[in-house]
Amino acid sequence: MLVLGLETSCDETSAAVVDKNRTLSNIIATQTEHIEFGGVVPEFASRAHIRQLPTIVRMALKKADIQFCDLDGCAVTYGPGLAGSLLIGLLFCKGLAKSLNIPWVGINHLEGHIMAVAAEKEAMDFPYLALVASGGHTLLVKVDKPLQYEIVGRTIDDAAGEAYDKTAKILGLGYPGGPVIERHAKAGNARAIDFPRAMLDKNHLDFSFSGLKTAVLYYAQSLSSQERQDQVNDIAASFQQAVIDVLVEKSMRALERFKIKNFILSGGVARNSTLRDAFSYVCTANQINFRVPAPELCTDNAAMIARVGHIRLHLGESSENTLDVKPNLSL
Ligand code: KG4
Ligand code: ZN
Repeated sequence: MLVLGLETSCDETSAAVVDKNRTLSNIIATQTEHIEFGGVVPEFASRAHIRQLPTIVRMALKKADIQFCDLDGCAVTYGPGLAGSLLIGLLFCKGLAKSLNIPWVGINHLEGHIMAVAAEKEAMDFPYLALVASGGHTLLVKVDKPLQYEIVGRTIDDAAGEAYDKTAKILGLGYPGGPVIERHAKAGNARAIDFPRAMLDKNHLDFSFSGLKTAVLYYAQSLSSQERQDQVNDIAASFQQAVIDVLVEKSMRALERFKIKNFILSGGVARNSTLRDAFSYVCTANQINFRVPAPELCTDNAAMIARVGHIRLHLGESSENTLDVKPNLSL
């Protein structure tokens, strides 16, 4: 079965083709029109999706060496995300499925992130724990059975990726914050500044990152512009270490609490090589089976949506034409 996946929930326009075991193509166009605004401008995002999606889909089919008529099904993100952006993908998918007379299925973007590892190799053994760390979400999810998700921890304010983006803005480093903070952090001392590790003293598995961002803001405001320039690498490294310490500690606590031995790291923040290394180290030390998708499958992409779509369509699931976008959809 050949499935086309579409992802337009935020500022990536992406299309992918998968069959039973392989990803045949995964074309991702990251919109650059938001950089000068320091964040995603929803109206610009929808317009860019409209402009780009038909070409991206054609590129995905070409790379997979197939034609529209070879498709057996179609899958699309219908939430969570920006309403206007989601709508472009959803309407495209509905139209395509109708014209080809094939089934289609709406996919939860967060499920896509968790299943991104399966877009690469075989799926993870059950039960497993997944950490989704993206620009909009920070979730700890317990997965005992296929396609059943139980959220056991979440952020009570900013998401981890949002903290990266806001910190980069405070430091004048531009958008998106993750990659640029990672670059500066590599040249800095992670122990230079003792930023807060929120909620580590609490027994629950929730996160909070807004205090950390505020601590960076106050610290930066206490410096002269020359000092800020001199210390930018140390601030980036110390901020990043605080994020990593909290993500690792809470994930390990959850694994221990639920006696789970399999762990997936996912979402845009999982692209971070220092975070990947930290989890790899601690999982090996604790005999936890650790999986993280390839970097390009961590940030938004259609291969992860196509993979979940393939699984669900194969089980006989399909969506009705009445399905609408759900910007606040939860797992
Ligand atoms: O999953 P994603 O592509 O979109 C959402 O679903 O939100 O995640 C985007 C987030 C952004 O906040 C971005 O700053 C962060 O992932 N990110 C990173 C890195 N690359 C992207 N964070 C830390 N290190 C990175 N290398
Ligand atoms: Zn995402």
